[in-house]
Amino acid sequence: MSPIAFLSGTKVTLRPLERRDIDGAYPSWLNDQNSDRYTEHAIFPRNIDDILRYYEGLRTDRSILHLAIIARENGHHVGNVSLQSIDWVSRHAEFAILIGEEEARGKGFGTEAIHLTLDHGFNRLNLNRIWLGVNAENTTALTLYHRAGFKKEGLMRQHIIREGRAFDMIIMGLLASDFYALRGERVEA
Ligand SMILES: CC(C)(COP(=O)(O)OP(=O)(O)OC[C@H]1O[C@@H](n2cnc3c(N)ncnc32)[C@H](O)[C@@H]1OP(=O)(O)O)[C@@H](O)C(=O)NCCC(=O)NCCS
Repeated sequence: MSPIAFLSGTKVTLRPLERRDIDGAYPSWLNDQNSDRYTEHAIFPRNIDDILRYYEGLRTDRSILHLAIIARENGHHVGNVSLQSIDWVSRHAEFAILIGEEEARGKGFGTEAIHLTLDHGFNRLNLNRIWLGVNAENTTALTLYHRAGFKKEGLMRQHIIREGRAFDMIIMGLLASDFYALRGERVEA
């Protein structure tokens, strides 16, 4: 059965999370201490039932758009991207991304997944603001977000504590008007 593509790029497609993804590498990304340097997935363990509950919730929960990132080169599920805590009144959402497969990092997948998700968030979901929090030392992610047009809006001092060290968290945001201006498009509404 051919997979359902929801958003298509040249390097990745983004599609709904499928039940079969839960039998793949996905659960291990959420429990992987080494890969969790800049996320907070592997603090409490997550078993298959926990992930199934989350997956079932995605069908009806309209406060989250969760997509699986599929590498076009081999069809592998390499990560996930989401717009979460969607506020339909003030039209903002929090962006999150994880390329869970380490060998899939640095190949441009994250860049394209960000672009596709922002495009959908502004053009189809009619969001006005997409924001995120990022560890101040996560230079790879910061580079990507700056390139995508996110602006630094604030800094939460010592917001993250791990392994005896405190890290600042940078808050970044991207407005629909900035997104369209960057792409040379007009904003009609
Ligand atoms: C951050 C993440 C999403 C990036 O995705 P990716 O597919 O690896 O990124 P890309 O390959 O599209 O681009 C990486 C870019 O950052 C650059 N880069 C890599 N390491 C860097 C560093 N230490 N400092 C600055 N830039 C760096 C690369 O050179 C590349 O730029 P290029 O396209 O000009 O070569 C991915 O590495 C990831 O999921 N990391 C773990 C989870 C995480 O940190 N999520 C974000 C939480 S806010």
